[in-house]
Amino acid sequence: MLSKERMLISDLDGTLIGDDKSLEQFNQWVQSCRNQLGLVYATGRFLPSIIEAVRTTALPAPDIIISAVGTSIYHYPSNQPQSDWHKHINYNWNAQKIRDMFAKRSELELQPDEFQSDYKVSYYLRDATPEQLQSLHDEVTGVSIESEMIYSSNRDLDFLPIRADKGKAAVFVASHNQIPAERVLVSGDTGNDRALFGHGFCGIVVGNAQPELKNFTGPQVYHARQSFAAGVLEGIKHWWNGKIS
Ligand code: GLC
Repeated sequence: MLSKERMLISDLDGTLIGDDKSLEQFNQWVQSCRNQLGLVYATGRFLPSIIEAVRTTALPAPDIIISAVGTSIYHYPSNQPQSDWHKHINYNWNAQKIRDMFAKRSELELQPDEFQSDYKVSYYLRDATPEQLQSLHDEVTGVSIESEMIYSSNRDLDFLPIRADKGKAAVFVASHNQIPAERVLVSGDTGNDRALFGHGFCGIVVGNAQPELKNFTGPQVYHARQSFAAGVLEGIKHWWNGKIS
């Protein structure tokens, strides 16, 4: 268990990653309070690509990684998976059945193999309408699969087990480490980050967010004026006055 005062759970691409200069400033802020802060990345990427990003950019080393849109959780730097998470999410779920069902659907373009797993089936579907999305979700439900369907950036369509998304993984990580919800900050920019908000967490939407998150409001949602990591730092200042303890 991490022994930390507060926790920041942030998306990477388009949130912390996107502007090198403000990522450097974010890194400096993290170093100034590293012992008190639990740092968690919650991203659509898979583990190898996250490790590579930490190795090659100014991204500070996290404590925990929520990868593949909340379908895996790893401890860092050991890269040990959170052992019970896959067992927990593997409920009324069958990735192969979804892939078979949609194999001949010309509007659904399967994302490359490197973005697929036993717990995540992802397509490209440009400019989907709400009706189209509802009908795809109904089809999956029709074959007795309980799936969380997530549409991001007007392009990415993910089917995940019903017990998995970034938010459910974030709730697990916060409570597993005994950080009360009001001491957790989340930040993001697109549709797959929507699930991070709520749960009693305080939230930051960065200035460059996609419309699906830009139009999302609530008492615990702060819309930063600045973009990328500068927007996250602005939100940290807003919620925590930049201080950790
Ligand atoms: C990341 C993943 C992709 C997913 C998208 C939205 O880009 O690589 O597979 O569809 O996030 O969740």
